[in-house]
Amino acid sequence: MSNLTARDSKGKPSPTIEIFGELDPLPRLLMGPGPVDLYPRVLRAMSVAVQGQFDPQFTGYMNQTMALYRHVFRTANEWTFLIDGSARAGIEACLVSLLAPGDRMLVLNFGRFGHLLMEIGRRVGAEVVSIDAEWGTVFEAAEVEAAIKKHNPKVVATCQGDTSTTMLQPLDQIGPICRRHGALLYVDCTASLAGNAFETDDWQIDITSTGLQKCLSGPPGSAPITFNGRAAAAINHRKHVEAGIKTSDMVEGNGPIIGSNYFDLAMLMDYWSPKRLNHHTEAASMLYAARECARVVLEEGLDAGIARHAQATAALRAGLTAMGLELYGDSRYRMANVTGVYIPKEIKDSERVRSQMLEDFGIEIGTSFGPLAGKIWRIGTMGHVARKANVLRCLASLEAVMRRHGYAKTGGAGVEAAYRVYDQA
Ligand SMILES: Cc1ncc(COP(=O)(O)O)c(C=O)c1O
Repeated sequence: MSNLTARDSKGKPSPTIEIFGELDPLPRLLMGPGPVDLYPRVLRAMSVAVQGQFDPQFTGYMNQTMALYRHVFRTANEWTFLIDGSARAGIEACLVSLLAPGDRMLVLNFGRFGHLLMEIGRRVGAEVVSIDAEWGTVFEAAEVEAAIKKHNPKVVATCQGDTSTTMLQPLDQIGPICRRHGALLYVDCTASLAGNAFETDDWQIDITSTGLQKCLSGPPGSAPITFNGRAAAAINHRKHVEAGIKTSDMVEGNGPIIGSNYFDLAMLMDYWSPKRLNHHTEAASMLYAARECARVVLEEGLDAGIARHAQATAALRAGLTAMGLELYGDSRYRMANVTGVYIPKEIKDSERVRSQMLEDFGIEIGTSFGPLAGKIWRIGTMGHVARKANVLRCLASLEAVMRRHGYAKTGGAGVEAAYRVYDQA
């Protein structure tokens, strides 16, 4: 109960309205599949004053954010901006704007988030077809090409990294294949951007979206996206401007109207362009966060940040292996920022191990779902968290908790193996 008292509409203290205590979250180290701890600078950026989206200083910040994310996505695309909402808002904006009812989409489905792409596609009214990889594996380029030839889709959609399986789909050949067969390629890089190589232009990715809460170390709630002229043409073909804001000089397309107002990328292009077409009220504090995430990442250097992720993950994996644990998934295609590890048979209550990690050491690690429920834990080393001290803390804590659960194969071997990875650097 709060010691503050609420008042009723007559201004009298009300015993029936509870206003709870001030927020006071316990310190945590977030080493699950996301969200992860925020860079302190990002938190600070969120506390500066909110402005309206037509204030010239604020439109300047919007333009800077666009410019920063062109570097993060490694693209020259003019259309690089934010969708206000969590990462799936970015996915929905891309798919609802591209796909009209009846359009065919081919999904490369290798985990839970492939299913999400299919689900969103179906809700949009698209004809969704998929190729499905066993969890823990990804697709060869030839399989993808064969499926495109068979189905002739308008859009091919895939995740780069699927956190549910911890696998990373190689993409460098997929873009050129889509281009050869006249399909647009959409990629969800929510879980992988800035922790794994991602080359929007070199890999010929037409449209892609991400979130802040993984390797960018920001809060969930903003989804940076980028798309090229091919995608923009397909979207503008469906452009219809809201009646109350339409002017006579606006050119509309003759394709079917986009099935969402909030996620209409055709109107959003005009909102983010010098036209500044009125649309939603910009989530200013989230824009400040997104802008600061990109500044932090670019200040370190994208490649240096990717190398830091690779090193932290190598150390974590060396430690887990030295503890006698088995890593999950095809070792050639693992993401460099989240690790799946099999729960050993000696551990009878794997959820209790996780809750003890949280209660006793303040460390969150991830559970899993679908076919992997109860079989693996998922440990993230991403963004601000991908550092030596956190890897060593996590291994030491996990070893201690697992010992309490009867898994006592090694004493300190995990931490020592991780130390050695860092010693070699
Ligand atoms: C690959 C991938 N796509 C999409 C999402 C959905 O993100 P959000 O929960 O921010 O909507 C996630 C979240 O874990 C993810 O890992």
